[in-house]
Amino acid sequence: MTTQFATLTLNNQSIALPILQGTMGGYQLDIQSLDQHHLYTFDPGFTSTSACASSISYINGEIGQLLHQGYPIEELAQKTSFLDVFYLLLNEKLPNEKEQKQFEQAIQHYNQMDSDCIKTLQTIDSTMHPMGILSVLIAVLAGKYHEHDAFHNKHERINRINHMIAQMPILVAMIYRHQHHLPLVSPQKDLSFIDNFLYMMFHGTEHPFTDQIIINAIDRILLLHADHEQNASTSTARLIGSTGSNIYSVFLGGISALWGPAHGGANEAVLNMLSEIGDEKNIDHYLKRAQDKTDSFRLMGFGHRIYKKYDPRATLMKETCHDVLNKSNLTEDPTFKLAKKLETLALKDDYFISRHLYPNVDFYSGIILKAIGIPNNMLTVIFALGRTAGWLAQWQELVSQPNRISRPRQLYVGSELRHIT
Ligand code: SDX
Repeated sequence: MTTQFATLTLNNQSIALPILQGTMGGYQLDIQSLDQHHLYTFDPGFTSTSACASSISYINGEIGQLLHQGYPIEELAQKTSFLDVFYLLLNEKLPNEKEQKQFEQAIQHYNQMDSDCIKTLQTIDSTMHPMGILSVLIAVLAGKYHEHDAFHNKHERINRINHMIAQMPILVAMIYRHQHHLPLVSPQKDLSFIDNFLYMMFHGTEHPFTDQIIINAIDRILLLHADHEQNASTSTARLIGSTGSNIYSVFLGGISALWGPAHGGANEAVLNMLSEIGDEKNIDHYLKRAQDKTDSFRLMGFGHRIYKKYDPRATLMKETCHDVLNKSNLTEDPTFKLAKKLETLALKDDYFISRHLYPNVDFYSGIILKAIGIPNNMLTVIFALGRTAGWLAQWQELVSQPNRISRPRQLYVGSELRHIT
């Protein structure tokens, strides 16, 4: 219950604004009543604006902390699996053994390739960007299952959530196989979520997908991408969900927002950047370019709207990177060596220090995925697979509560009223 207020005084008006205090984090001003006074706030980029109350994740950027339902990401990464975290985000608790089995069985129910997606995939040029192909296939599901009212019907909502959990790894694997002109592989009843995903991706190839280091690496990468509060793609997903649009079209928005190089597309951009830098002797030149306001070059995989310390996921990703490269005797991998050198030099450079720019989740993820045999243009699709957990949990939280359509205001700076002469 609010007990404190801030007073806004404007044109001899005093407006009492309730001060909200969440479970963690600082105070927040509840400005909803400003509308009654025809007053609005201006915050392009939403740097100082909360769009919702949520219990799913919490980030303290000042100390580089990320919690999912209160559990630190470090503990989750070391002691649980991606599917455990998926369950946690949806159910506010980690699953016991019985709940794990029930969750896997509920997903299994939807574990088959969709015939319309197969037909559509065959009409798509295999050289198209995988994020575009993923959007097309999810649009097929949106058109096919639109009538299933998951917005008002809780039981149907759980069905649609389980359907998406099952379908996303299947669609990602279908895209990979299509890209490489390989026959599509159906999911197997007796395989776990991660084993099934790798099976559908690499069955029938020379890939060592049953190697435990590979399995652990993919599981950790998906886990580290699961959710991250109200980032751009999740906020987009929530906004679409607030209109009552179906869960598949919510995903279409999330995927489109994630694709941008300022967001999830950064993992692919990091590898392209490292390939452009090419050699350690060029690092200084590129660090200078990153600081030149007249140059569009940015240090991809660096910086974050909230983290002003090291992104805790980047630390865990770097560990995984070392494990995977170590397994294949690739710790001397030139890309990994270049990335580590680039990080070392950037973290000594006052430009990056003064702006609190540190490696984020995307800096090392691409190197691991490349070492695992995932092509550069599939990296953001893998990010979307991990973020399936967050988009579903955040959408579920949104539609489970009374909610109004999200409709921001604007500061109008256009022409005054005028008439056609
Ligand atoms: C993700 O929101 C999330 O949680 C996202 C995410 C998730 O899990 O969902 O964590 C995933 O998207 C991680 C971010 C991936 N993007 C990149 O790695 C792209 C490179 N990073 C930048 O584009 C940037 O850092 C952003 C987009 C991540 C953050 O942008 P902000 O918060 O708007 O920061 P800003 O542009 O206002 O930067 C502040 C200053 C500026 O310089 P000054 O005007 O103060 O002189 O820092 C500079 C910027 O020019 N800066 C950079 C930089 N990032 C910021 N300069 C060079 N290289 C960079 N990478």
